[in-house]
Amino acid sequence: MTTLEGVNVLITGGAGYIGSHVSRLLIESGHSVVSVDDFSTGLAERIGSESYELKLENPDAESKLASILNEHGIDTVIHFAARKQVGESVEKPELYYKSNIGGLLNLLSAMKTAGVKKMVFSSSAAVYGMPSVEQVDEQSPTNPINPYGQTKLIGEWMIDNAKTWGLSAISLRYFNVAGTGWSDLADKQALNLIPIAISKISHGEPVDVFGDDYQTEDGSCIRDYIHVMDLAKAHIDAISHLKNPGNEVFNVGTGEGSSVFEVLAELKKVSGIDFEMNIDSRRAGDPPKLVASASKIQDSFGWKSEFGLAEIVATAWESRES
Ligand code: WQD
Repeated sequence: MTTLEGVNVLITGGAGYIGSHVSRLLIESGHSVVSVDDFSTGLAERIGSESYELKLENPDAESKLASILNEHGIDTVIHFAARKQVGESVEKPELYYKSNIGGLLNLLSAMKTAGVKKMVFSSSAAVYGMPSVEQVDEQSPTNPINPYGQTKLIGEWMIDNAKTWGLSAISLRYFNVAGTGWSDLADKQALNLIPIAISKISHGEPVDVFGDDYQTEDGSCIRDYIHVMDLAKAHIDAISHLKNPGNEVFNVGTGEGSSVFEVLAELKKVSGIDFEMNIDSRRAGDPPKLVASASKIQDSFGWKSEFGLAEIVATAWESRES
C-alpha cells in the first residue's frame, strides 16, 4: 500500500458494506473521514465518524453537499452511494437513472462549487457486459447489458467530462467483492452468491446453482472473487495517484477465477456442513466466465490482492448473522 499524506475524505455510502470498510481503513491510517448515506441499505452502526443522512438524488442535495464539503475542508471524495442490484435495475431502470446518475450529477456539481478536485468512483465489471474474452482488461469493449451496468459506464463518462473544471478521478471497476475485514461490517444483504449461500445454509435450505451446463471445467460459471480488504486498500492507493485531470479506469480483481461449485466446496469445508445444492436453469445475463486482468493496477499502484478464495469464504462465514 502506498503511503498517503493526511487527507480529508468525504465518503458517500459510508454506511454500506464496502464504504464502511474503506472508511475504517482510512481512519485507522490516520485520515479524516466524513460520511453521507441515506441509510436505505446502509447500517448506521457501521459509521465510525461524523455522518450526515442525505439522499444524493434529492433536489436539495447539491447545496447540502457543497456546504458539507466546505465545512469539513474536504479534499477528496470517494463515491460509493448507488443502487447495485442487476435484476432490480432491469425491472425499475428509472430508479437507477435517478439514484446512480442523478445522485452523481448533484455530487459533481457540489464538488465543482466547493472546488474539490479529487474523486475515486466505485464502478463495476458490469460495464463489460458479456465480454468475448475470458479475462478482461481496461481496453476490453464496454457493452453493459443492464441498466445497472449502463449507469456505471455513464458515471465514468460524466466524471471524465468534469476534467473541464479540473477534476482528477480514478474509477475502480470492481469484480466480485466478498469476505469481511471486520465482522461488524459484514455484508448483510444476501444479494450475491456467497452471502446468499450462507443465508440458505444457515436456514437449512439447499443452495441454488444457476446452471451447470456452461462451457467451463465443472459446468458452473466462473467469477473473480476479491476480498473486501484488498478492494479497500486499492481505494487508499488510488487516492495517492489522483494527479491529472480526467478519469482513469482500473479493474480491481485478483486475475484468478473460481467457479460456483468451487466456491460452494470451500463453503462446505469452512462450515463443516454438507449442504444440498439445487441445480437450477441458467440465469439470464450471466457470462460463463468473467475474470479481471489486474495488471494495470498492479503496474500503476504496486497493488496486488493478498487474499484468496479460502480467506474470502472463511471471513464471510465467520461473520455470518448469529
Ligand atoms: C455470481 C455467480 C451466478 C447466486 C454481480 C453484479 C456485478 C457486481 C457483483 C456490483 C453467477 C451464481 C448466484 C445464487 C448462483 N456487483 N449464483 N446461485 O452476477 O457475477 O455480479 O455482483 O458491482 O456488477 O453483476 O454476482 O454473486 O450474483 O453471481 O449460482 O444463488 O454465482 O449465476 O454465475 P455477478 P452474483
